[in-house]
Amino acid sequence: MTVPVEPQIMISHKNIPKLFAAWRLCVRLIQWELTIREVVSMKNLRLMILVLCFILSACGRVYGQKSTWTIGMSQCNLGEPWRVQMNADIKKAADAHPELKVIFKDAQNDNLRQRAHIEEFIRAGVDLIMVSPKEAAPLTAPVRDAYMKGIPVIVIDRRILGEDYTCFIGADNKKIGRAAGTWIAEKLGGKGRVVEMKGLMTSTPGQDRNSGFREALKRTQIEIIFEADMKWLEPNARKEMESALARFDKIDLVYAHNDPGAHGAFLAAKAAGREKEIIFVGIDALPHEGQMYVKRGILGASFEYPTGGKESVETALRILEGEKVAKEITFPSRVFTKENIDKGGEYLTE
Ligand code: FRU
Repeated sequence: MTVPVEPQIMISHKNIPKLFAAWRLCVRLIQWELTIREVVSMKNLRLMILVLCFILSACGRVYGQKSTWTIGMSQCNLGEPWRVQMNADIKKAADAHPELKVIFKDAQNDNLRQRAHIEEFIRAGVDLIMVSPKEAAPLTAPVRDAYMKGIPVIVIDRRILGEDYTCFIGADNKKIGRAAGTWIAEKLGGKGRVVEMKGLMTSTPGQDRNSGFREALKRTQIEIIFEADMKWLEPNARKEMESALARFDKIDLVYAHNDPGAHGAFLAAKAAGREKEIIFVGIDALPHEGQMYVKRGILGASFEYPTGGKESVETALRILEGEKVAKEITFPSRVFTKENIDKGGEYLTE
């Protein structure tokens, strides 16, 4: 992508008389006082073009700044339904504002590609950057660079390291992990054998969904008999679950950090004819994914993880209009079970 080059008009003490002369010519032109000979004289024509360019570019700047904004949005991958939904939510919210133009980029789960997105956005001079990072560490430096250069950056869902960004938007993963742990402890009557299918542990939701969950289990007799990093992906979860099933005759429950992970584990158990003896719990609760699994009895519970797409666009607009926004915007989450799904789930309390 190329950097837009702005036309420069040099104003020094030497050309002030020239500009003044050009200005007078323009005024006379507007008043129809110039003769044809004066207009076609090369010198006058050049001066008038100079002044007209200057006026037009000044008008363009003032008007342009208020009328259109370009947002660069880097999504860490589009292979997972939750991310497709986030982009759709962003697009829908942005489409309601003709003054917003969003450039979407897909990093295809590649940190280097995502770093390059941020660098491209900086070079292109976008007005604001949105990023849903794959992993915290590799994305920290480019986000800091953009932020230091004065480009507002909204970090969505997965965090970066440190504080060098404008605003973080997401749900509270630690709280969701704790709520899942409490729900599971109750369901199992305080004891049992559990498998944990972890999300990518170099991403912050994976870390928080794990630590919140473990915190809630502290005073129980629940045993984590098997844990694996399935990196948020259904096929990985399925493979890992095959190993767990081969090693353990009795598994009471699988806690997966997202619904694709829970579904992958369910498919492995089903292939082994053991799905009826195990409860599966996931996170995300998209209507056409986790909520549907709960309705069909595949999952015992799914905890909602809102995409934050709509809120990101609303926050971007406020930033672009010069408003100061909170550094952290977190939203509530619901749990869906077969008992409450028809009533729209239940908000987590705490
Ligand atoms: C999609 C996803 C979601 C999960 C989120 C965490 O990439 O794995 O399923 O809730 O990322 O960042």
